[in-house]
Amino acid sequence: MAEIDWQPLHDAAVAMTRRAYAPYSGYPVGVAGLVDDGRVVAGCNVENAGYGVTLCAECGMVSDLVAGGGGRLVAVWCVDGRGETIMPCGRCRQLVWEHGGADCLLQTPQGVLRMDEVLPQAFGPEDLERR
Ligand code: THU
Repeated sequence: MAEIDWQPLHDAAVAMTRRAYAPYSGYPVGVAGLVDDGRVVAGCNVENAGYGVTLCAECGMVSDLVAGGGGRLVAVWCVDGRGETIMPCGRCRQLVWEHGGADCLLQTPQGVLRMDEVLPQAFGPEDLERR
């Protein structure tokens, strides 16, 4: 997949922010990912009265990916409630790494970066194979 059509990913991510359940932080997040078969998967954050139980938007996106048949993420865009690009938190970079790997592209406030630029020296599936 040579050229990424980013606009549909931004549209899907923004649409997801409107479904976010964020009554505690007041900080809706939406994320969308392009899959290597052309699907677009997406998610929103889902908070909980037990704050630490909160699901980040990327958790929902990965669940959408796997439940929808799997595949590899090739491009991801995460936005806040104003549609501005945000960085996935550290835990969610690890989630994207598992399902996209080093080549997966990510929109960031500093432009498009590869996953191995935003999660250098990542721990991943290959490390377990070497055990
Ligand atoms: N959040 C995400 O959904 N993804 C991230 O990568 C960063 C943080 C959510 C979790 C919480 O509901 C809210 O943003 C504030 O931390």
